[in-house]
Amino acid sequence: MIKRIFVCVGLFSLLLLFTSSQLFAQGDVVKERRKLMKSNIKAYKAIRKAVKAKDFATIEAKAKVIAANMEKIPNLFPEGSTSKNSRAKAAIWKKWDRFVRGTKSNKEVAEFLAEAAAAKDGEKVAILAKGVDCKSCHRSFRKKKKKKKK
Ligand code: HEC
Repeated sequence: MIKRIFVCVGLFSLLLLFTSSQLFAQGDVVKERRKLMKSNIKAYKAIRKAVKAKDFATIEAKAKVIAANMEKIPNLFPEGSTSKNSRAKAAIWKKWDRFVRGTKSNKEVAEFLAEAAAAKDGEKVAILAKGVDCKSCHRSFRKKKKKKKK
C-alpha cells in the first residue's frame, strides 16, 4: 500500500514537473525567437549598408548569420506557442508548410548572397541582397503592432 502511494506521488510530481516545464518553455521560446529576429534585423541592416559601401566581407558574414537564423526559425515555433507579447499568428500552424518554405527559400537566397559576396561580384550581390525577403513572411504570419493607447 505504502509503495503504491509512493508511486502515485512520484508520478504526480513528474506530471507537474512536465507541465510546468512546458509552460516555462513556451514563454522562453517566444523570447528566444524574438532575440533571433533581432539578430536578423541587425544583420539585414548591416547588409544594406555594406552593399552601398561595397564591403563584401561584411555582406558575406551577415548573410551567413541570416542563413543560419532561417534554419533555426521552425524549431522556435512549436505548435501553438504564443504569449501575451507575441505577434505570431495562428496561421503559422495552419499553413506550416508555407511557413517553413519561407524560411528555406530565404536561407537559399542568403547563401547565394554570401557566395556572391565571397566572389566580390557586385552585380549579383546587389540583386541577391534585394532578394532577402523578410516581409512576405511577416505579412502573412505576424500580427500588426498593437497601437499604444495614449
Ligand atoms: C518564415 C517567417 C519569417 C521570416 C522569413 C522572418 N521573420 Fe521576422 N518574424 C516572424 C514572426 C512570426 C515574428 C513574430 C514573433 C513573435 O512575436 O512571437 C517575427 C518578428 C520579427 C521582429 C520583431 C522582434 C521582436 O522584438 O518582437 C523582427 C525585428 C523581425 N522579425 C525581423 C526579421 C528580419 C530582418 C527577417 C529577414 C532577414 C525576418 N524577420 C524573417 C516571422 C518571420
